Amino acid sequence: MKNTISALTCKKLWLAPLAGITDKAFRTICKQCGADVVISEMVSADGYIYNKSRSMKYVDFTEFQRPFGIQIFGYKPPVMAKAVEMILEKRPDFIDINMGCPVRKVIKRGAGSALMKTPELAVEIICEVKKVLDGTNIPLSIKIRSGWDDSNMNAVDFGKRMEDTGIDMICIHPRTRSQMFSGRSDWTLIKKLKEKLSIPVIGNGDIRNAEDAREMFKETGCDSVMIGRGIIGNPWLFAEIKGIMSNSNNFDNSEKLEIIKDHFILAIKNKGEDNAIKEMRTHFSYYTKGFQGGAKVRELINSSLNKSEILEAIEQLYQGKRKK
Ligand SMILES: Cc1cc2nc3c(=O)[nH]c(=O)nc-3n(C[C@H](O)[C@H](O)[C@H](O)COP(=O)(O)O)c2cc1C
Repeated sequence: MKNTISALTCKKLWLAPLAGITDKAFRTICKQCGADVVISEMVSADGYIYNKSRSMKYVDFTEFQRPFGIQIFGYKPPVMAKAVEMILEKRPDFIDINMGCPVRKVIKRGAGSALMKTPELAVEIICEVKKVLDGTNIPLSIKIRSGWDDSNMNAVDFGKRMEDTGIDMICIHPRTRSQMFSGRSDWTLIKKLKEKLSIPVIGNGDIRNAEDAREMFKETGCDSVMIGRGIIGNPWLFAEIKGIMSNSNNFDNSEKLEIIKDHFILAIKNKGEDNAIKEMRTHFSYYTKGFQGGAKVRELINSSLNKSEILEAIEQLYQGKRKK
């Protein structure tokens, strides 16, 4: 087991789970750009055991995406355990439990970041899930926040308790649930967690460029960094980070264009042309940000169902000049 965990955390760059963004096509693109570890979007444990076919698209992955983790959320220990038992059929490389989601729909029943308010329940969930994972060599990680709010910043004590219960890795996005995504994430908490725990710690929050990633490693001593919003429309950031760590070259615009095309082609392959065009609108709007004429292209992308027309418009941007 130790070897499996260090194989994951000596892999330095993790793609964050991002519901609605990090689907199978985008994960492949991120791997091509240098992501070391990728994770599924969060999957409801209840949803998985009661309507498995609807959740399938979230847990499906390709061999190229390994190491691949599946993240689940929920609040009932036996349901979480059952979901993991069923998910093991997919042969993921690790299981992650979401203990950080701030969204009302998730926390109202006590899942996601609400579990940081009920450590006993979190312990029970981990114990039940560990029973299923016993003997499989598949590590268990959790993803947490700083705590519920400013008066309940229990990440370090909570993390320690979960470590004592048997998790193998921990990721922290150091904002409270009340903060949602506002303000700055507090990297000093990543450092404190790393100092207090002996399992690998994955730092997350506000990495927008390669320099940020280098700073997070330096300031916190974390084992790996996880990147979310900074990668949307910008998957080559993984290559840029590896670039500054090894002094190699960044992608130029023509290479980036090839990556965008690959992303589009993969999405079409997975979802069919019309669905892919609609679902890719979010990605395209990020890919076209900061370019001279980007707004016009976004307008076209949002109204067009014509694949060649969209590709041609993006191609023109990437052959032109950036605004800044
Ligand atoms: C659109 C969106 C979807 C997200 N979905 C998930 C999710 O499914 N599971 C999860 O643990 N965190 C989720 N997060 C949180 C991110 O994984 C990450 O912790 C957070 O965005 C902070 O990292 P960043 O500053 O690099 O974006 C989501 C965040 C965003 C913006």
